[in-house]
Amino acid sequence: MAHTVFVTGGAGYIGSHCIVSLLEAGYEVVAIDNFANSVSERGADGLSRAPALDRVQQITGKELTFVQCDLLDIDALRNIFKLKKIDSVIHFAAIKAVGESMEQPFLYYRNNMMGAINLLEVMKENGCYNLVFSSSCTVYGSPEFLPINEDHPTGKVTNVYGRTKYFIEEMLKDVAVAEKQWNIIMLRYFNPVGAHPSGSIGEDPTKPFTNLMPYIAQVAIGSKPKLTIFGTDYNTEDGTGVRDYIHIMDLASGHVAALKKLQEEHLRMKIYNLGTGEGVSVLRLLKTFEKVTGTKVSYETLERRVGDIDAIYAKCELAEKELGWKSQYNLEQMCEDFWRWQTMNPDGYRSNKTITNGKI
Ligand code: WQD
Repeated sequence: MAHTVFVTGGAGYIGSHCIVSLLEAGYEVVAIDNFANSVSERGADGLSRAPALDRVQQITGKELTFVQCDLLDIDALRNIFKLKKIDSVIHFAAIKAVGESMEQPFLYYRNNMMGAINLLEVMKENGCYNLVFSSSCTVYGSPEFLPINEDHPTGKVTNVYGRTKYFIEEMLKDVAVAEKQWNIIMLRYFNPVGAHPSGSIGEDPTKPFTNLMPYIAQVAIGSKPKLTIFGTDYNTEDGTGVRDYIHIMDLASGHVAALKKLQEEHLRMKIYNLGTGEGVSVLRLLKTFEKVTGTKVSYETLERRVGDIDAIYAKCELAEKELGWKSQYNLEQMCEDFWRWQTMNPDGYRSNKTITNGKI
């Protein structure tokens, strides 16, 4: 009997790519999404569909179950757990715009915190205790040392989005201590970028975004006039911000590795960084993107964004040692794969191209 994984936020950028790897690893998948930050369309049956997940099924040739559902609707969530026995859960669903989180803290605490609490309640009601939680390097705040390992202090987070991730981590630690049946892995992502090599799924540009790679691609494709580089006076190699960019398919394989670990071992609670271990500046990413795509990305420079840090990059030895996972893709591939998605789908999932077997 295949192991069934319940994926929240499955229609999103990270969720959809992880589901490709889950299906290819032989897992059954039940996915939900409330389309807060992903694209939906009306199916022939009148129900909302996730074009990203239709394409995931075309890429893999495998089927999955998708239901539109909001984690704040605990009764709807309970009904989904009645559809079929759920063996493990991967929890991606959250809203994550840093700037918006500062303007609307209540929206973020209610959505991200209550959503997680409802999920834990329903898991417990159904005797399901295997959980992979999508956390973030944001919980580390401003690094006290680099590269950052999992023992680095957490909690000195200034933005509300990052604080919701931190508070959920702390809640999961308390739950794992109080109830020994929980089996939880928390994955702290660094900066996910890129797209599935087929080019048929990616980070949809029709949703509001502020992060760097999609912005560069939009300038390269001509949808935006120029990139603004926020801050050129950081204490880094070229003065621009340094981050640990990780290919989305490396992130996806990290989730499969974590799930396998939970199936092999009852470990209560473990935390792993998912990064490459390499810090890359804004300018270096931009130049690599131009070289790989043969495009020119014009930019202006402005002062720093409030809350941005100089540099952050991961120490990933623990995931390599205990999960047998290591990032495989390089910066050029991240740029190449994102560009293929962007040029094949200039309007994201609203593109009217037809996809067959993951190819345009
Ligand atoms: C990267 C660098 C900016 C845009 C993100 C997510 C956060 C978390 C970690 C998941 C910085 C610079 C950016 C632009 C720029 N991921 N930049 N011009 O801030 O590291 O955080 O990854 O939880 O949710 O927000 O990523 O891509 O916004 O910025 O100069 O138009 O690019 O200053 O140095 P960030 P980012």
